[in-house]
Amino acid sequence: MIKKETIDRITETALVEEVVGDFVQLKKRGTSFIGLCPFHNEKSPSFNVSPAKGIYKCFGCGKGGDSISFVMEHEKYSYPEALKYLAKKYNIEVDESEITPEYQAEVDKRESLYIISNYAAKFFESTMWESPSGQAIGLSYFRERGFRDDIIKKFELGYSPDEWTALHDKAIADGYRPEFLEETGLSVKNDSGKVYDRFRGRVMFPIHNFTGRIIGFGGRTLKTDKNVPKYVNSPESDIYHKSNVLYGLFQAKKAIRDVDNCYLVEGYADVLSVHQAGVQNVVAASGTSLTPEHVKIMARVTQNVTILFDGDAAGIKASLRGLDMILEEGLNAKVVLFPDGHDPDSYIQKLGSAAFKTHIELHQQDFIFFKTQILLKEAANDPIKKAAVIRDIIESIARIPDAIKASVFVRECSALLNVEERILIAELNNIKLTKLKKNYTRNQPDAETPQPATHSPQPEDESPLPIARGSLNEPDEAQEQELIRVLISYGDTLVNWDGMTDTYIGPYIITNLSDITFNNTLCQRIITYYHNEFDKGIMPSEKSMLHHPDKEIKNLAIALISSPYMLSANWYDMHHINVPDEKTNLKATIMGAIFHLKKKKIATMLAAKQKLLQAPNNPEQEQQLMQQYLQLKEVEKYISHYLGSVIIK
Ligand code: CTP
Ligand code: MN
Repeated sequence: MIKKETIDRITETALVEEVVGDFVQLKKRGTSFIGLCPFHNEKSPSFNVSPAKGIYKCFGCGKGGDSISFVMEHEKYSYPEALKYLAKKYNIEVDESEITPEYQAEVDKRESLYIISNYAAKFFESTMWESPSGQAIGLSYFRERGFRDDIIKKFELGYSPDEWTALHDKAIADGYRPEFLEETGLSVKNDSGKVYDRFRGRVMFPIHNFTGRIIGFGGRTLKTDKNVPKYVNSPESDIYHKSNVLYGLFQAKKAIRDVDNCYLVEGYADVLSVHQAGVQNVVAASGTSLTPEHVKIMARVTQNVTILFDGDAAGIKASLRGLDMILEEGLNAKVVLFPDGHDPDSYIQKLGSAAFKTHIELHQQDFIFFKTQILLKEAANDPIKKAAVIRDIIESIARIPDAIKASVFVRECSALLNVEERILIAELNNIKLTKLKKNYTRNQPDAETPQPATHSPQPEDESPLPIARGSLNEPDEAQEQELIRVLISYGDTLVNWDGMTDTYIGPYIITNLSDITFNNTLCQRIITYYHNEFDKGIMPSEKSMLHHPDKEIKNLAIALISSPYMLSANWYDMHHINVPDEKTNLKATIMGAIFHLKKKKIATMLAAKQKLLQAPNNPEQEQQLMQQYLQLKEVEKYISHYLGSVIIK
């Protein structure tokens, strides 16, 4: 157990903006800081850090807490793990002898995997620096490649003995459990149950997570035999997920933040060389190609990525498509190409650090222009190929979320491609529309799956309306009946709507609903009845409706008036309207009923359009439906906004 005094010291010392700042790029705004929330996907910052209060809060997803809870949530640490992490960060001593059996129990499996990985890294390191074979084979390999000792140490490089069970035997002798060696992939069990080391006779690159804990390894062979794989990597485990780990990020993150740029290279060797050249803001997506998760991780530290390519044209072309995801995340992507088949590592080793830095300065280029040039060169004078190039480029630009940035690219590409700007813009809009449609279809709930009728307000939901949130196929009756209820209750009431003239509520409602047909035939009959009475100059009262000669109308009126607030109670709650007081804010009550019904009707119409869109008859119809769909969506947004904010004022 960690002592209370230690916990207090940690809480006092750990500044929330510093702790969060290690993971999230924060910008000062007034007395607090804002940034992109690390707990949910967002493109505009709603994550707030208040140094004065020592807390963070995301207005998007609602997550909030202090330094300790941030580390727990972000790193998936237990409470004691988080405390120890902060203690380490602030050089606060934690008395390990205080560890009790309860704490031992909290050290879960993940912790064991971290521990065994760290143990292995230390084993590889000491083997390289201390054993004769490690020095003669591993260390001398790195030195001959030109890596300085300080870099070798900084990245904790090592060497795995060329034996079948060296690590395994030592770990077991030191009391580590074999299952954790297997789970991290450090040991491999063959079909006959024999266990042996995965890494043998290789130089070892430990892979760190964001907080610096070792989670996996890459091991490079020193043999030139073509049948031996050049790299062997740790398999995925509970602590190692290739798709969201960038090699070198732990060592680079401070520099990335300082210069607000991240260099992306291909291999371990490139990271080491570039770092050694004094350019410390460099990472690699090793052992896998770049994933959207990688890009998101970078986006938390900087908005600017510069990709350093080796000069192999085929390889570059293959990776262009994948790089579009950098644009999609809203990052600025630049590209530097290295000549004569050089990669950053070989370039630096041959021409030196100064030449490397100059090369980057002189040859960095915006990704879109780089792509345009590469593709254009290939298309040469073939007009069909050129058309494909134009489409491809515009597709890339369509991924840029910032419209202003995109329009700048369109203008400049129009010059490069020698195509009129308006043609490019038309193509851009076309692509965006298609994408919107695809997204929409993908995000729709499956009609077969029943939707839980949740009635609790959820801030991240686009719609603030609990009533309208049910399935699109749900009948509109709830909203229709609520409307009829207020019509019966207040139809003959005068209300001062605009501060100038008194108006009867009944006619106001009827005029506002002229564009709506009620699903429920009885409701529709009541609407028609009111309409006709108004035409005759009669204002039906609540009493007259409760004693209506039409038995069906009378029964519905009684049912609605005797349990008046059932349907809308939730909505009133949300807007802090005291239910028995609906009369004191009649305007809100009436408008709420009208707009909720309209919103529901629009949802139904949207569902119908969407169904048609799934199998359009022809492209023209599809385009037309899409336009109508978008228009309805606008109206829906307007109504939601009205219901969410205006009505209670
Ligand atoms: N890689 C891998 N498995 C392989 C080959 C490559 O996982 N069989 C990954 C490694 O992460 C490697 C990166 O792809 O770092 C780039 O490959 P390469 O350029 O061949 O490796 P370098 O690190 O540059 O190695 P070196 O310069 O020592 O040849
Ligand atoms: Mn290389």
